Amino acid sequence: MELVLEKEGIKKGNKIIIVDSKKVLKSKLNDKEYKVAIAKLKTDYLVDISVLDEQKYVALLNVKHQEKNRKLGAELVDKFSERTFLYDCSNNSKGISSFLEGMMLKDYAFNKYKTKADFKHKKVILISSNVSLGNIQELKSLVSSVFQTRDWVNEPVNKLTTNQYIKEIKSLKSLGVSVEVFRKSKLEALNMGGILGVNQGSHDEAALVKSEWKPKKSKNQKPIVLVGKGVLFDTGGINIKTGNFMNDMKADMGGASTVLGVLKLIATQELPVHVIVLTPITENRINGKELVPGDVIKMHSGKTVEVLNTDAEGRLILADALTFAQKFNPLLVIDAATLTGSAYRITANHGAVIMGTDEKNIKALKKAGEDVYERLIELPMWEEFEEALKSSIADITNLGSSEGQAVCAGFFLKNFIDYPWIHLDIAGPAFRNTESCYLPKGGTGFGVRLLYQFFKNKFVV
Ligand code: BES
Ligand code: ZN
Ligand code: ZN
Repeated sequence: MELVLEKEGIKKGNKIIIVDSKKVLKSKLNDKEYKVAIAKLKTDYLVDISVLDEQKYVALLNVKHQEKNRKLGAELVDKFSERTFLYDCSNNSKGISSFLEGMMLKDYAFNKYKTKADFKHKKVILISSNVSLGNIQELKSLVSSVFQTRDWVNEPVNKLTTNQYIKEIKSLKSLGVSVEVFRKSKLEALNMGGILGVNQGSHDEAALVKSEWKPKKSKNQKPIVLVGKGVLFDTGGINIKTGNFMNDMKADMGGASTVLGVLKLIATQELPVHVIVLTPITENRINGKELVPGDVIKMHSGKTVEVLNTDAEGRLILADALTFAQKFNPLLVIDAATLTGSAYRITANHGAVIMGTDEKNIKALKKAGEDVYERLIELPMWEEFEEALKSSIADITNLGSSEGQAVCAGFFLKNFIDYPWIHLDIAGPAFRNTESCYLPKGGTGFGVRLLYQFFKNKFVV
């Protein structure tokens, strides 16, 4: 969306008048300029007004619930002509920001592989004294990072190969992010049996990518490390996925794409926070050399794992990255992963699962989740779940009980941490099969706004 801020008065053309109270609306309606007939009351906050052959709408912002304003913005986008004037008569800068956010998040299509695309971005001219150019610029970078994450998730594995993904991650360098890539020989030297094991059946060599934003004036002495699952396609391995369970598995790098998306945003906005992102990247496929159930692998930490199900691959690659995170002496490590069908069945597309060892920051993340409407539900780490990971021949198995898999997977990861840690299972919200308001079908970018808000609440006053 092309959004420009103007200070001058209202012009001819498609117009949307934004108010924050019925009183303001009434005064505007009495004004000559707005002397219009209310055609019908569409919802309690949206009034549709027609003046002769000109279309005008009044958007009534909600004072308390920002999500209503995002939804209202998204709802109106379809009514926009190619060029629309927004005339902000409200006194609600938070409300108008959320309204614009919903509007911009909705203006998205992934159509690069369509030979005939009918989607056109809208142009919006905002006349407002409630928002600054800085606000608009922040919204633009937020939306562009969310769209980057959506695009990555939507890319199929025959296009977004390991090398291509690495190339795109390296483009973050232009923002001042440093990027270091460890390939197979280095992973072998580091004994990363989890990443290498999953990678055995893959077409392309695995990679562990370290991307870092380290500003001069960072507010944290010790870095915050973000770890993201980067399985470019999950066939399940030899425990192959059946039926249509494999259909959306190009999205299994949703975790990596989320943490890289938020890094892009943090770097664009130059937040004063030292962040390291670790993304283990591989496919989980079959080529005759893949892992089979019963195989024992030795992890980067030295622990041995009996692989009882090759479809529980995410935890294997994350575990090595989590061990690797230790060497940065982190203040906190947050991992994000499309990890279990179990989490998906709990949250559907409506939110994500959270668990971990850092109660204070779990609380802060939940709060950020409410702020941006990327909500989190905490699962309990009851010790009984850990017992289910016992192996008769190795230190642990990668499986656990069939019930409570989301927690078993969390406990598996807990074996590889020795710092404050939070795990986000985004299997539910990362990818949708239907669109909903400002969330498109396909990749949603879930987690980018959540983590950005968390960092802002924590480090920016
Ligand atoms: N990538 C899947 C989890 C998933 C499922 C993500 C649905 C998004 C939507 C993961 O690798 C997986 O297959 N997990 C298995 C683990 C099981 C074999 C222990 C699962 O959850 O079924
Ligand atoms: Zn799997
Ligand atoms: Zn997976």
